Amino acid sequence: MEKTIDEKKQGQTLVLDQKKENTRKLFIESYGCAMNFSDSEIVASILSDQGFNTTQSLEDADLVLVNTCSIRDKAEQTVRKRLEKYNAVKRINPKMKVGVLGCMAERLKTKFLEEEKIVDLVVGPDAYKDLPNLLAEVDEGRDAINVILSKEETYGDISPVRLNSNGVTAFVSITRGCDNMCTFCVVPFTRGRERSRNPQSIIEEVNDLWSKGYKEITLLGQNVDSYLWYGGGLKKDFVKASDMQKATAVNFSNLLELCAQAQPKMRIRFSTSNPQDLTLDVIETMAKYDNICKHIHLPVQSGSNRILKEMNRLHTREEYFELIDNIRRILPECSISQDLIAGFPTETEQDHQDTLSLMDYVKYNFGYMFTYSERPGTMAERKMDDDVPEAIKKRRLAEIVQLQREHSEIRTKEYLNTTVEVLIERESKKSDAHWSGRTSQNIVAVFPKEHYTIGDLVKVTVKDCTSATLIGKAIKYSDNN
Ligand code: SAH
Ligand code: F3S
Repeated sequence: MEKTIDEKKQGQTLVLDQKKENTRKLFIESYGCAMNFSDSEIVASILSDQGFNTTQSLEDADLVLVNTCSIRDKAEQTVRKRLEKYNAVKRINPKMKVGVLGCMAERLKTKFLEEEKIVDLVVGPDAYKDLPNLLAEVDEGRDAINVILSKEETYGDISPVRLNSNGVTAFVSITRGCDNMCTFCVVPFTRGRERSRNPQSIIEEVNDLWSKGYKEITLLGQNVDSYLWYGGGLKKDFVKASDMQKATAVNFSNLLELCAQAQPKMRIRFSTSNPQDLTLDVIETMAKYDNICKHIHLPVQSGSNRILKEMNRLHTREEYFELIDNIRRILPECSISQDLIAGFPTETEQDHQDTLSLMDYVKYNFGYMFTYSERPGTMAERKMDDDVPEAIKKRRLAEIVQLQREHSEIRTKEYLNTTVEVLIERESKKSDAHWSGRTSQNIVAVFPKEHYTIGDLVKVTVKDCTSATLIGKAIKYSDNN
């Protein structure tokens, strides 16, 4: 899954290596973006030192944790439904404790304990290291909460336990928080100010993953292009840094290069890019290294300049096109994907047409599309009426989704009768005789297994395709294998 919500992964429970001496059982499930899934690996790692082994059976659990998402109302409703389910299990097993982690914990704070009587523990995204203390409180029969946001916490010193892993691909988080304040978005409120992780600890994690057999990593952040390390501290405080700190600072392009050089055969991905921060040097670094995957997830949200301004997105439609043109010029083989929102307050039919025409210009390979969901506390909620009727939002979204489907089909057809490089990740969901993996461009490819195995990089000739999947035959191992 890239940064964005992967519907197939929602609610996945996580299992980690079992420690013999551990006697308590943890059931942990995650909702929302890749960062949450990655955070759950940090939480499981912290709790593994506190006597917890994970279980996939809710009924067996001593502790149930749900890592939550607040991005749209629907995401929150899904979690509320899960709490009802936990409640039913708690009636059978009254000793079971329930904790809420992540963005809903941060957004609702103590309200959670008041509204949802079954919740014993509320922990925000920067407070996971406090879990041992909080659990001690809970063990003594008290509710426990820590939702303090941090200026420094990056969990750089915690070695995440890879959970439910295919052993081939892993997330490596590089920044936390977001300073952008897009007016529709709750993330700056739930995940705090932007801070970057020490590049040395990132490289160590990449090296460690390679030594354990991993073949692909995704560098994760709300806005990876904004990565900036100058010895620690908030991104916004960089202006106050010393000359020495400024001269030795590491930006995202530098970090990408460091990762690509550290493990020349490790595939490197990153997510998410923000048009306002994606600089030419990042695109040039991508071109320079074969092992940096040629895919950019570049959310645009709207094609209308007026709406972009209302959203506080700091680029225009024209600047976005210029960026797309630069990507196409420097990296002709690069795929591009989007996030789009239909029905932001005041959006007119003309604004919507501007979104469709922007899509026509770019012809994205794929995208994640949503209707606007008003989030409490955001600027849009405070200053604007959610005035586009639900039916119109839905109709506009359907038109956007339909157009994207057509573009995806055009894009996948471009690969017909070509040979692509695929990293095998798992068995195809539709057939146990086929492998499934992704190309550098992040397009799924399936092909007969033959003598190949999970973790192999193979050359695949594309014979057929659907709008989202390439269907082919492996012809040999890739030289990069
Ligand atoms: N910069 C972040 C964005 C996280 S939110 C990242 O990509 O990592 C992911 C996507 O959810 C956004 O790009 C946006 O398209 C969508 N989104 C965010 N807030 C929303 C809201 N209030 N209503 C509908 N969609 C929203
Ligand atoms: Fe949200 Fe905009 Fe940041 S979408 S996560 S405020 S870049």
